[in-house]
Amino acid sequence: MPSSHETRRTFAIISHPDAGKTTLTEKLLYFGGAIRMAGQVKARGEKRRAKSDWMKIEQERGISVTSSVMTFEHKDLIFNLLDTPGHEDFSEDTYRTLTAVDSAIMVIDASKGIEAQTLKLFEVCRLRDIPIITLVNKCDREAKDPFELMDEIQETLALDVSPMVLPIGSGSTFHGCYNVTNGDYYTAKTKGDAFDTIVETSGIDDAKLDDLVDSQLLEESREMIELASVGYSDFDLESYREGHLSPVIFGSALKDFGPTALLDLIADIAPMPRPSPTTERTVSPEEKKVSGFVFKVQANMDSHHRDRVAFMRICSGDFKRGMKLRQVRTGKDIMVHSPIMFFAQDREIAQEAGPGDVIGIPNHGTIRVGDTFTEGEQMQFTGLPAFAPEVLRRVRLPDGTKVKQLRRALEDLAEEGLTQVFKPNIGSNWIIGLVGILQLDVLKSRAKAEYGVEIDFEPITYNMAVWVKCDDEAKMKTFLSANVNNIVHDREGSPVFLAKSQWEIDFTKERHPDITFMKTRELV
Ligand code: G4P
Repeated sequence: MPSSHETRRTFAIISHPDAGKTTLTEKLLYFGGAIRMAGQVKARGEKRRAKSDWMKIEQERGISVTSSVMTFEHKDLIFNLLDTPGHEDFSEDTYRTLTAVDSAIMVIDASKGIEAQTLKLFEVCRLRDIPIITLVNKCDREAKDPFELMDEIQETLALDVSPMVLPIGSGSTFHGCYNVTNGDYYTAKTKGDAFDTIVETSGIDDAKLDDLVDSQLLEESREMIELASVGYSDFDLESYREGHLSPVIFGSALKDFGPTALLDLIADIAPMPRPSPTTERTVSPEEKKVSGFVFKVQANMDSHHRDRVAFMRICSGDFKRGMKLRQVRTGKDIMVHSPIMFFAQDREIAQEAGPGDVIGIPNHGTIRVGDTFTEGEQMQFTGLPAFAPEVLRRVRLPDGTKVKQLRRALEDLAEEGLTQVFKPNIGSNWIIGLVGILQLDVLKSRAKAEYGVEIDFEPITYNMAVWVKCDDEAKMKTFLSANVNNIVHDREGSPVFLAKSQWEIDFTKERHPDITFMKTRELV
């Protein structure tokens, strides 16, 4: 396997639940040659989910909370697809996974347009100017007008769009997809079937199309395509790479239109691994020495063992199995003798991996999200975000003898990024903060299964939490003592302001103009 960073395309799919991410993932793996039969992704998921208690929650609710990595080779390139769960209740590792990719595919349901979860995930991509290719999916169903959809993307996301493939018809009239960049027309021999035919044309006015498409539909489509070519931006590689412009493909993952065009587009335009900022300097992927950061830690599916897998994105160098790497936070050297590569078929022991690749490092809880590994250099990769939680609860411990277990459980699960833990100034009960309400069940169930401790949650009077900071120490002190009831501290000891409403935050801001209130905080 070639290990140069130029051959890597590391990306994620962002979407709202039900837009078609699983279907697309499956088709990408299938057309990328990684699986033999579409349908295996789900089957494998179910088998895996059956393995542990807390994952039963996912199984019962039919969703996947865990992220994983799928690696496959296509066109002499190595594609690393990092999965980001699309359910609206999920933990921070979803967001953090996006810090480990170089580009993203945004899947939008053609009948719905931009939905809440897509918007949230898009905002995270925007923080890092991640280039995005858009797939407007389910064009074989009744859909919104293509112009309406493209305008919605432009306006809601403040992102220029460049239509590359447009639909001919929709719902019952859906006939095919036309590629404006090369004149190819994709369609099915038999109406309603998966796409199996490509007709090469000299342009949308080519007479070949008159024999294929209903005349009225073709006339309307020709007009639409002409209007689209003047109404939207031409594709510009630089704008795309800077995250300002998104090429748009209208298609149907289910009918096999979209996946191959996406694979080709990723191979042609998606960026190879980019330089990564650290506290000391920017690391180029071309550097010889190995460096990387951990963006996710996942407890093993086996509830009898307390071991974990840390997912590390390699930022530079050619990693070789058995290598010794320095964990910068602790200064300890770790021998990585059983790294895991996540091939779509199975887990395999990696012999080597390059920039842009992700390896799993098994450990017993010693590796944390945000950890940097190097060959000895003292530096720390930056930009891994912590998010202001949207659900706050006080933890109640019915059995007072289990304080130690509770602390251990909360500390470990906070390290994984499942929850945030806050210590109040007043009172001794921990307060937890989560990005989604479903995580409460996961937390409760894992505390019991893995740490033998029953916990309950009580609502608190606060609904919002924001980090606060101020360069002027005296002003910060005044602020903290004036708001002592509202202040808690996160695990790193950074102060966090709890509020009942946005109004309260705005009101407090006005009274303390020197204090900065932050909804996200970089872990490093
Ligand atoms: P998700 O991972 O984003 O949540 O979506 P998923 O792929 O599971 O797709 C959600 C539903 O939409 C599925 O139907 C899937 O078959 C359907 N779907 C995905 N892409 C297309 C498309 O291009 N066209 C059409 N018409 N449907 C599409 P389901 O009935 O909920 O599940 P299933 O029983 O078919 O698996």
